[in-house]
Amino acid sequence: MSNTPQRYTITAALPYTNGPIHIGHLAGVYVPADIYARYLRMQGNDVAFVCGSDEHGVPITIKAKKEGVTPQDIVDKYDGIIRKSFEDFGVSFDNYSRTSAKVHHDTASAFFKKMYEDGKFIEETTQQLYDEKAGQFLADRFVTGNCPKCGNEEAYGDQCESCGTSLNATDLINPKSAITGEVPTLKETRHWFLPLDQYQEWLDEWIVKGHAHDWKSNVHGQVKSWLNDGLRARAVTRDLDWGIPVPVEGGDGKVLYVWFDAPIGYISSTKEWAEREGKDWEPYWKDEKTKLVHFIGKDNIVFHCIIFPVMLKAHGEYILPENVPANEFLNLEGKKLSTSKNWAVWLHEYLEDFPNQQDVLRYVLTANAPEAKDNDFTWKDFQARNNNELVAIFGNFINRVVVLTNKYYSGIVPKPNDYSEVDEQTVTELKAYPAVIASSIEKYRFREAQGELMNLARLGNKYLADEEPWKLIKTDEERVKTVMYVALQIASALATLSEPFLPFSSTKLQKMLNFTDAESQLSGKEYSQWDKIATRDSLLPAGHQIGKAELLFSKIEDAQMQQQLDKLEATKTANAAENNKVEPQKETATFEDFTKMDLRVGTIIEAHKLPKTKKLMVIKVDTGLDQRTVVSGIAEHYKAEEIIGKKVTVLANLAPRKLRGVESQGMILMTENSAGKLVFVNPDEDGVEPGTTIN
Ligand code: MF3
Ligand code: ZN
Repeated sequence: MSNTPQRYTITAALPYTNGPIHIGHLAGVYVPADIYARYLRMQGNDVAFVCGSDEHGVPITIKAKKEGVTPQDIVDKYDGIIRKSFEDFGVSFDNYSRTSAKVHHDTASAFFKKMYEDGKFIEETTQQLYDEKAGQFLADRFVTGNCPKCGNEEAYGDQCESCGTSLNATDLINPKSAITGEVPTLKETRHWFLPLDQYQEWLDEWIVKGHAHDWKSNVHGQVKSWLNDGLRARAVTRDLDWGIPVPVEGGDGKVLYVWFDAPIGYISSTKEWAEREGKDWEPYWKDEKTKLVHFIGKDNIVFHCIIFPVMLKAHGEYILPENVPANEFLNLEGKKLSTSKNWAVWLHEYLEDFPNQQDVLRYVLTANAPEAKDNDFTWKDFQARNNNELVAIFGNFINRVVVLTNKYYSGIVPKPNDYSEVDEQTVTELKAYPAVIASSIEKYRFREAQGELMNLARLGNKYLADEEPWKLIKTDEERVKTVMYVALQIASALATLSEPFLPFSSTKLQKMLNFTDAESQLSGKEYSQWDKIATRDSLLPAGHQIGKAELLFSKIEDAQMQQQLDKLEATKTANAAENNKVEPQKETATFEDFTKMDLRVGTIIEAHKLPKTKKLMVIKVDTGLDQRTVVSGIAEHYKAEEIIGKKVTVLANLAPRKLRGVESQGMILMTENSAGKLVFVNPDEDGVEPGTTIN
């Protein structure tokens, strides 16, 4: 355990203010970050835990356009909702700022300017995607297309969410404007680029070699794979009007790339906090002895392990993260969480249905945290963990201890007699827990840590069940005093050790046990010191008056779960209706346009999945003209053996193009059935509905 106090700057990814937050955000980022921050504070460390709203970026402008309001309206609305959710769930930020704040605009501008003046950028005029109809350049989320790496058809202009690759918009195959649906043209524009390639070797030393053992393997592995692919320069400015104006000559009409400004938001948030608290912000970002830790989800790894560190290094005055404990994703009832598809449990809605049960959700999300791999949230598991663990073990133990102490001793902690062997053993076990839980937390293994907390509750529950003070009271009152005394020590340790995980229940329990009792020999602060549990003789001294019993947790009924499942079912139905909408007819094609297309019947003679891709299949077709190779994105829908011998329609004179290094000479026409499966064009096929497009 770390006994010398240490300075920590802990950041949690700034959420985009284009929607409320859901359980995925909480499980992946904010609950683990909060557990860590609370724990470190309890250990007497100097902690700045900062976050804020990420208010720039394309998704916000798209949402504003859709709703016919200004981007400012959108960010004001969601900043409010998100702030409230964090507060409601006890996420103990020292400061929650927003990137529209003046302090942030100033900080980000100055950061860019310094890098510019030090010659850290490359200034270049290049061809960028342009939407003629919208009269606007397309970057980031304004453009979608096929990922050049994995073939995912819905990759964005800055990143493919399927394989995690970070992209430039011009890398996309078959790009399409997200504003108008048009195929973009290319137009010249001048921008500033961060030459990531120049930092490749440094990153290799620092992360791949330097953090091979202390960073999580999912994070280390991703970084290693990007470095293997080779880094390229990345534009850090955009032709947009929503964002932080580029503060140098030639920057008119341009703004900083959202991923350039947002992480600087951690610094601005720290400044805002320090200003308010009358502290100096600089040691939190510039003192080598400070530990900087970024909590994020896996889609943010490239930005926090490569781009932001390169910015910090290039700027020159800042420390680098000590660790970036990124989590994988949480699914909901087996399906990917999605804001746009409304497949989520929204925090504000959860609280309407489960008032004052924040800790239950925190508990379940930590018990199921996607720490090493994607994980699933189900309502069934939620109910089981509440009823069988929180209620039956933790709550039951506390309730027995507090009720019996009140009943036998009017709430005054009894003076124990000599310990039996079982008592000695139990107290020894109890004293080992603070170190065990601490060690897991310090390794960012929060589910393991919380599991140990529950084991301590189990220890208490078993101790009472074995000693049965409610029976003994009739025969051996002196023995009962000792048993209740030991049980009260366990309850007291639970009140302290549960604070990072279950802050609301911990507070309630501390109140029940009267931790702040001024009459007592100890002050409230001393009670809740983590390390004292192992070293102090008595956690709750004899003679101390505790309060009355209150229920910490309550049973969740089947009907409540059914209500949640019904809600999800309704979302599914609504989404299916949305999906079955027929796409509007495209522009008129002339007869000449049509005859330009050379469609042939072909037979598939060979097929194999392209290694290291999810979707791509390399198919050899006999077209009658020749035998040629076509790369098709159907590997998730068919096995190679299933399609050999099939007759298919081939667009033979489509210009050849390379997909993951394999040249595709033509296209096999496919359509999608109502279950979302790609099928070969055959209108008689099951589930192929009128109006479905062929492509
Ligand atoms: N808004 C981003 C997201 O939700 C995260 C930004 S993290 C920061 O994915 F570092 F840029 F702040
Ligand atoms: Zn991809």
